[in-house]
Amino acid sequence: MVAHALSVRNASIRFGGIHALKDVSLHVADGTRVGLIGPNGAGKTTLINCIAGGLAPDSGEVDLFGKSISRLSAPARASRGIGRTFQNLELFDSMSVLDNVMTALDRPLRRGGRAATRQRRDRARSAMATFGIEQYASVPAGSLPYGVRKLVELSRAFVREPRFMLLDEPVAGLSETETFLGVLVDGLDRLGCGVLLIEHDMPTVRELCERVYVLDTGAVIAEGPFAEVATDPRVVAAYLGADAV
Ligand SMILES: Nc1ncnc2c1ncn2[C@@H]1O[C@H](COP(=O)(O)OP(=O)(O)O)[C@@H](O)[C@H]1O
Ligand SMILES: [Mg+2]
Repeated sequence: MVAHALSVRNASIRFGGIHALKDVSLHVADGTRVGLIGPNGAGKTTLINCIAGGLAPDSGEVDLFGKSISRLSAPARASRGIGRTFQNLELFDSMSVLDNVMTALDRPLRRGGRAATRQRRDRARSAMATFGIEQYASVPAGSLPYGVRKLVELSRAFVREPRFMLLDEPVAGLSETETFLGVLVDGLDRLGCGVLLIEHDMPTVRELCERVYVLDTGAVIAEGPFAEVATDPRVVAAYLGADAV
């Protein structure tokens, strides 16, 4: 049996009176892209935080390539190969785009002399080239339009060459979705790793994801190929609306 790239088993978490995740299990095979959809407040970002290590679930396990990462810190999980982007971009606004991308690289690489710095710079420039933002290398991230900032955020995640990628609404809030999507797909193709993608934009999910999980009030209510899930009456009732299919 091939181990899944990512497995979440029976994850539950409460925030006071809110049961944000209820016994959630989810699996992603290596090299496949899986969508995670559901209404606002369904628990999608909470689940990603439990996978990346920013939050510890009250119960449940997370495995990466068949090995438990449940008890590792977020940086340790990143070192094992978990990459992520944040729904609310986490950039250093006063730093240049190049420095933003370079600082995403592993700590051991930050040490060392000029050769190590050059290597980090080359890797950063290559990630920026993937997303077409080399021309902004010396521009402070905070001064750029939202769409470019999203690409900086993606470059920061991609530069580490993760073995598994978590994307929290990478397309949300963008006007030119199509161009952006093409760039994102190229980048993901090049990386070739498994992906868990949160996204409200249904055409994006349909194009990118082989399978989707639907969360509603903290529980998985459906799972399967997009076309099947999108017509599931429970999903339509919870979220999609008949015109989304
Ligand atoms: N740190 C937190 N403290 C308290 N409640 C939280 C926290 N994070 C999320 N929640 C609550 O948990 C639920 C799920 O939130 P979230 O995972 O952000 O949903 P989604 O990403 O699907 O929109 C919401 O009711 C939200 O208000
Ligand atoms: Mg969210």
